[in-house]
Amino acid sequence: TTLMLIGIKNILIIVNPGEEKLFKKLLGDGEKFGINLSYKIQNKPEGIAQAFLIAEDFLEGNSTVLILGDNLFHGYGLSNLLQESNLDNSQSTIFLYQVKDPERYGVAEFDENGKVLKIEEKPSKPKSNYAVTGIYFYSNDVVKKSKLLSPSKRGELEISDLNNLYLNEKRLNAKIMNRGMTWLDTG
Ligand code: G1P
Repeated sequence: TTLMLIGIKNILIIVNPGEEKLFKKLLGDGEKFGINLSYKIQNKPEGIAQAFLIAEDFLEGNSTVLILGDNLFHGYGLSNLLQESNLDNSQSTIFLYQVKDPERYGVAEFDENGKVLKIEEKPSKPKSNYAVTGIYFYSNDVVKKSKLLSPSKRGELEISDLNNLYLNEKRLNAKIMNRGMTWLDTG
């Protein structure tokens, strides 16, 4: 529903092996919601950024939005905040939200001017309490960039590594999702 809110009509749902049937039963091809849904399987839990390798044919070189299936967003102004990012094709955008337990997430490190320097994935000593939420807007070179990633220590293509690639090129916007909005990572 968050993607529908910003007018996205072509959605690829990436599922674990064995889950495809359940999702198709629940959502079908999307026609009843006025959208197009297609499905692909991620065979092994090899990281969120692998989504773009799986989605290469689906994306056909377009820019894209990724949303994690266990993330829920709600609140006044949400569609405007997201819509602005959807219009910008040269930059990628992430959304930060203040949390009490940043060590569970990707965490932003800021310089003295409040600019994001780096994203650290599940740091034991977080440099801020701003977590990276599970909705990401990427420019049309996201597949190419994802192919540059190597698996992390936990064997995953990390979305935080991808975000740092954009950050190093000064092509990553980090927007604060204020506390008037609700973000839930339901696990
Ligand atoms: C993932 C990302 C993390 C992000 C979080 C948001 O963590 O790796 O950077 O902050 O989603 O939900 P995971 O859900 O895999 O623990």
